[in-house]
Amino acid sequence: MDNKTIVNLIEQAIKAKKAAYVPYSGFKVGAALLTACDTIIPGCNVENAALSPGSCAERTAFNAAVAQGYREFKAIAVVGGMGDDLAEGCFPCGVCRQVMAEFCKDEFVIIVAQSPSNYMIHTLPEILPYRFGPANLS
Ligand code: THU
Repeated sequence: MDNKTIVNLIEQAIKAKKAAYVPYSGFKVGAALLTACDTIIPGCNVENAALSPGSCAERTAFNAAVAQGYREFKAIAVVGGMGDDLAEGCFPCGVCRQVMAEFCKDEFVIIVAQSPSNYMIHTLPEILPYRFGPANLS
């Protein structure tokens, strides 16, 4: 994945983070999901007074993408922090990793960023080894 694509994805994730609805935690997360045909789908976390109906930014992006007809993905950039902070970073939670396992191949890349020039990049097997996925039921 070239640097221009990575920087663009991180910038889109930072933009998406601004829409986060977080009245309970104050922890804002933004995601930018890159489809196989190079469309970028944004996502933010959306909390709920009843807690469990809330959605992480990554799942917001995946669900929006699937609803728009996308089923294949190359990468996701994620940023997060309290309020406007980005320094903390935000690795995808276990549930979001499982959603990635549903739709993504081993080559899928997760970019966890603190800024467009400061990020970590991992493949899906690195952050979710020994996963259970669609292949197990085929
Ligand atoms: N959160 C995400 O959006 N993505 C993650 O991968 C981890 C956590 C959100 C959920 C909740 O709104 C807030 O961060 C604090 O847990």
